[in-house]
Amino acid sequence: MIVCANLKTNHTRSSVKSYLDAVGAFIDQNDIKARAVVFPPATALCASRGAITVGAQNAWPVENGSFTGEIGSEQLDEFATRALLIGHSERRHILGEGLDATKRKFDFFAGLDYEIFFCIGEPLEIKEAGFDVVTTYIKRQLDGIDLSYSRLTLAYEPVWAIGTGKTASSEDILSVHSAVKGLSDKPLLYGGSVKTGNAEEILSLDNVDGILVGTASWLSDRFCALLSVADKIMQGQEQQ
Ligand code: PGA
Repeated sequence: MIVCANLKTNHTRSSVKSYLDAVGAFIDQNDIKARAVVFPPATALCASRGAITVGAQNAWPVENGSFTGEIGSEQLDEFATRALLIGHSERRHILGEGLDATKRKFDFFAGLDYEIFFCIGEPLEIKEAGFDVVTTYIKRQLDGIDLSYSRLTLAYEPVWAIGTGKTASSEDILSVHSAVKGLSDKPLLYGGSVKTGNAEEILSLDNVDGILVGTASWLSDRFCALLSVADKIMQGQEQQ
């Protein structure tokens, strides 16, 4: 099970350090086997440490150059960052990142052997148009992406569920995850208003290999609680 914290535009360098210290200590003290991945803002990037993978929320598909406001692989290298989030809905829908940009990013960073967390998910009007329209939409987001790339994790994050407090129903998650698993056998996370109160139900669903969490991950103790839930489910699965 993978539990990711997307810190978005929150935290500072010093608070990320305290956050990682707290999560690292929790993992060690409780012998947590669930995998923790944290995406801090670019200003607070650092190398992965101990059991925690630290990844970037965004980068431009270049080594360096003239792309004002962006960072490339040269800047990521300085922090030994080897993991990257691509296609988050806020980048697609607020910052206007299109299919061409997500594909270019994927190709460039896969070429550098980055671990890639690639987000997909439909806006509300697509959901309301029915399941077939949703799967067509998601397939388009994955068009041209090498779904057999060994360091790929997918994350299904319905846009209407992100930061809204509205979680997709278990039926929604099951049907979309089953469709996506038909396209790729890579780990598949769910994201969209996951919190301690609903994490157990979501993580227990078939074809859910983890969660990508925004709001409920911003305090380290809440993120640790989510790691505990995932860990408990893993232990239950091992005993079966
Ligand atoms: P949320 O965000 O948990 O606040 O809905 C999820 C995400 O953006 O990945």
